[in-house]
Amino acid sequence: MGSRSFPRMKSITAIYPGSFDPVTNGHLDLIARGARIFDRLVVAVLQNLEKEPLFPAPERVQMLRQVTSEWANVEVDLFDGLLVDYVRRQNAQVILRGIRAVSDYEYELQMALMNRKLEPRLETVFMLPSETYSYLSAKLVREIAQLGGPLTGLVPPIVEERLRAKMA
Ligand code: PNS
Repeated sequence: MGSRSFPRMKSITAIYPGSFDPVTNGHLDLIARGARIFDRLVVAVLQNLEKEPLFPAPERVQMLRQVTSEWANVEVDLFDGLLVDYVRRQNAQVILRGIRAVSDYEYELQMALMNRKLEPRLETVFMLPSETYSYLSAKLVREIAQLGGPLTGLVPPIVEERLRAKMA
């Protein structure tokens, strides 16, 4: 019997790393797309950011867990140190990243090639979030929240509540 007669047994784990300060509807759109393609998707929250985060890491994780609870194959975890080391510890094969616009491409290319240099067996897979979110970033969300602007449609309702509470 040829190998084509057998189902594919290999299960693919993808790591979706980021700061998620806070999770936005753009991140969620990408998580939904990733969860459809990969067997297991781990959303990996970078613990120590270069800049002081608005939300401490455990709170970023908690919000992500709440808004991703509908997907049985999505997990949320904290990581620190080199991403490739974390990916190896998770036995993952793929790093998932979103590209919103051409402006994201240069930074993402640089990271993907550096991660490939560090771990040649890894593949970075880029997905496009819905064009509805092409202008959306966590940085702008933080700025709008700080200035008291409307956040509806940009972040999940529970994140909106946390942002409002933080700014109050
Ligand atoms: O959401 P962000 O801030 O764009 O995510 C950036 C992130 C977390 C993916 C990147 O900073 C990262 O992987 N940091 C871990 C440290 C590391 O491995 N650095 C080398 C990357 S080539």
